[in-house]
Amino acid sequence: MDTQRDQFDAPAVAAEARVPGPDRPAPGEAALREAAGPAPAWRVLLRYMRPSWRRLALGGLLNLAAGAVGLALPLAAKRLLDDLGADRPLSGTLALMGVLVVVTAAVGPLGEYVLRRAGETIVLTARRRLVSHLLRLRMSAADHTEPGDLMSRVTSDTTLLRQVTTDSLVGVVTGSVTVLATVTMMGLLDPTLLAVTAGVLVLAGTVVRVAMPRLNRASRDAQKAVGRMSAALERTLGALRTVKASGAEHQEEAAVNRAAEESWRAGVRAGKWLAVAGHTAELALQVAFFTVLAVGGARVTSGTIGVGTLVAFLMYVYYLVPPLQQLVGAAGQYQIGAAAVARIREAERLPAEPAAPPAELPAPGAAPARLEFRDVRFRYTPDLPLVHRGVTFTVPPRGMTAFVGPSGAGKTTLFSLIERFYDPTSGSILLDGRDLASWDIPTLRSAIGYVEQDAPILSGSLRDNLVLGAPGATEHDLRRVLSVARLDDLVARLPRGLDTPVGHRGTKLSGGERQRVAIARALLRRPRLLLLDEATSQLDAVNEAALRDTVVDVAGTTTVLVVAHRLSTVTLADRIVVLDAGTVQAVGTHAELVASDPLYAELAATQFLTVAP
Ligand SMILES: Nc1ncnc2c1ncn2[C@@H]1O[C@H](COP(=O)(O)OP(=O)(O)OP(=O)(O)O)[C@@H](O)[C@H]1O
Ligand SMILES: [Mg+2]
Repeated sequence: MDTQRDQFDAPAVAAEARVPGPDRPAPGEAALREAAGPAPAWRVLLRYMRPSWRRLALGGLLNLAAGAVGLALPLAAKRLLDDLGADRPLSGTLALMGVLVVVTAAVGPLGEYVLRRAGETIVLTARRRLVSHLLRLRMSAADHTEPGDLMSRVTSDTTLLRQVTTDSLVGVVTGSVTVLATVTMMGLLDPTLLAVTAGVLVLAGTVVRVAMPRLNRASRDAQKAVGRMSAALERTLGALRTVKASGAEHQEEAAVNRAAEESWRAGVRAGKWLAVAGHTAELALQVAFFTVLAVGGARVTSGTIGVGTLVAFLMYVYYLVPPLQQLVGAAGQYQIGAAAVARIREAERLPAEPAAPPAELPAPGAAPARLEFRDVRFRYTPDLPLVHRGVTFTVPPRGMTAFVGPSGAGKTTLFSLIERFYDPTSGSILLDGRDLASWDIPTLRSAIGYVEQDAPILSGSLRDNLVLGAPGATEHDLRRVLSVARLDDLVARLPRGLDTPVGHRGTKLSGGERQRVAIARALLRRPRLLLLDEATSQLDAVNEAALRDTVVDVAGTTTVLVVAHRLSTVTLADRIVVLDAGTVQAVGTHAELVASDPLYAELAATQFLTVAP
């Protein structure tokens, strides 16, 4: 899907990251971070592992202990043969072997459990970090991403860390210690046979070294394709009605399938390299076994070593299989994990707002807000034209201010700037006389109730939607806003009342109901500043009139800004701000503007007057 290609290195995002702001690093710092480049995967992995290092160490030690006990078995076997040869009683050696087997059986699974648990903790840590970051993404960064792709980074990519931490980094440690110990024992038994074994293994190592970078690339491609597939799915399933109405099922299916097939192709490539690497080690050891058997057999015949030594040595050759496979597997898993880490880090490097504790909502009766725009200029990205070219106006506390202007004039953008979804390119916005840039974002937003233009409703129950912005709301508060938003009839009608699920994006509600839920949600916060963006556009005349009265009431105690589209709202406003071509054309009451402002007079004639008041 073209729309989300290269989203993570879009120049606009990078440029945005360099714009200074109180919650962003200074430009120098950002530049340094960029210049330093991405940290190598192993270092990032170590960072994820730090909180679990005790468990990882314990798991590693238990694994090592299991390996060490296992290593003693061939020695016991040698002693058994020697005992047999010398006609000594076997009971002591047999008892020792029994103990060794039991200990191996107990310690091995315990070590594995501890490691797997640590692996899960690492996945959890990575997911928490990523989710926390993604929820705080700056809107300018979020605008360049696909939710589906970000979701795949949280769900699918983090899952790959489980293997890389348990199997890979720990595998490298335990695998190499076990290999070292085994090789030492082999060296002690017969250095010549060890040299034979090593020769065979070096050859195998070369094959593995060639396979690893290819595995990394294939794995990265596979995960990228999974991201593309999630994005395509999210796009389609999130707009199923539109897809159906457009008869676009086939082409949407093809787009999802293309990404799925891409992932399949890359996955198959990764599988090929994993198979090559894994089996090279096994094959090498088979070859080593027969070579050692031949060379060792000759040495036994010539009397250089005893048959017990050869048997023990051959057992060690077989003992090399698991740790060597562990090492090769670890290297493979590391390549897969490194590809996932790269994708997780990409998402973590998107610019975000600082993490801050949630702010208290304004106390009942808190003073209404005062707002001022001073020569605000704003563009969404450096390559886009200015939306605001020097917007200046003042809104005193209390009362209703209406914003009118043609579509695309920048009315919604004004509200986005007030919420600090974006920062002005120049100029300043002051709330209560303080520049927004100096406000702590949660405190700023807690003062505001915002009903967006398309009244978004989240999946969950009606209650979940209402208390989204006011978790501490009481039943009494809820009843109050339900009644002012004229939702009580709806709630009474629903089989499960407030606990009725509303469906994905509120699809089980009507357009007007969604708007009323969004208004109720905003009012529940008792905001000091209420932003209504065409909040009643889908209401019938009766509900609209009722909510208009409500808004007038609210404006008696709160500062209300409305993007207005009906004459009825505009005539009630204490002041109207006419926006056009990125500037404020005129400010005044309806009567003043009709007389003095041609644009307003035209808007009033064409847009408002056709709508029944
Ligand atoms: N996230 C965004 N990234 C880039 N450009 C955007 C973004 N949002 C809006 N724009 C552009 O900014 C301009 C102003 O948009 P805005 O939504 O503020 O208009 P509006 O006055 O609310 O219009 P309407 O009455 O149709 O809702 C438009 O040209 C729009 O295409
Ligand atoms: Mg708008």
